[in-house]
Amino acid sequence: MKKSVDSVAELMRPFFRHGEEAADYATSGNYYEWYFTYAERIKPTRILEIGARLGYSAIAMLLGHPGVRELTLLDDGSYGFGVGEAVENIRRVGHPAEVVAHTLDTQSVRALPLEGEFDLIHVDGDHTFHGAMHDLSLVLPYLSPSGVIILDDVDYISSCKKAARQFLSLNPGLESAHISTFRGHILLGYSLPHPDDGERTRSGMAKDGDGKSKSSKTTRRQFFGSAGRGTLLVGGIALVGTGGALTAGCSDDEGDGNEYPSPGGGERGLAPKE
Ligand SMILES: C[S@@+](CC[C@H](N)C(=O)[O-])C[C@H]1O[C@@H](n2cnc3c(N)ncnc32)[C@H](O)[C@@H]1O
Repeated sequence: MKKSVDSVAELMRPFFRHGEEAADYATSGNYYEWYFTYAERIKPTRILEIGARLGYSAIAMLLGHPGVRELTLLDDGSYGFGVGEAVENIRRVGHPAEVVAHTLDTQSVRALPLEGEFDLIHVDGDHTFHGAMHDLSLVLPYLSPSGVIILDDVDYISSCKKAARQFLSLNPGLESAHISTFRGHILLGYSLPHPDDGERTRSGMAKDGDGKSKSSKTTRRQFFGSAGRGTLLVGGIALVGTGGALTAGCSDDEGDGNEYPSPGGGERGLAPKE
């Protein structure tokens, strides 16, 4: 498998089934290239994706990292493509990963029919505020301690960014990074202690000996760090926000009082949504 960022568009071309190679997101140089490069950097072994369509983002990630062991796809087929079509397309990559696919309307369940933890979770299904909130809540119990959730389209569909903000405010143990890709991504992951810091509170401040908060170095998560300012990925992608900045002024803009699981996320195991 070729491994050059410059050739990601070329690598992706054979997998586009409906002329998407001419679409703005495919020619932007800053969309599939980012998935490819991010996977190449963080080297995930288990990937979960809600919203596969024909598998393009998944293909970009597999092309980026030959060491992925398992790819799990969840899709309800509402865009007109059965999840089997995504699997068929993905298999054409010739990647050794096991591909597991479920036809599932994630909005209809309170928990996912999955086992174990994932180190990379891509949320790209229902793009409404409540849809994205629900999917984030569903996947959080499956996120490994050092894993990352990628939420797509945050600069393209405002409800996605609102959902990320709301989700962060409900889960203060998470931190985030906003990535200026073609349509914007937000990365979410558990705050990790910086090796030079003392005990951390949920606000990310370290405590000194007498228990008072003190300012501390910013936590640099391995996965976020590789997307950070000064580390050029593709197309000038830079870290432009953190959890604190993203949660400022956050509210449920739809104001209907819907509640979502707080820290620790939702449940595990398949159960119908009431
Ligand atoms: C924007 S597309 C995903 C694009 C894909 N990641 C790619 O790279 O081409 C959104 C996908 O989410 C799926 N979807 C929408 N609502 C869903 C739901 N409630 N449950 C599961 N999948 C859903 C659609 O069928 C569609 O395939």
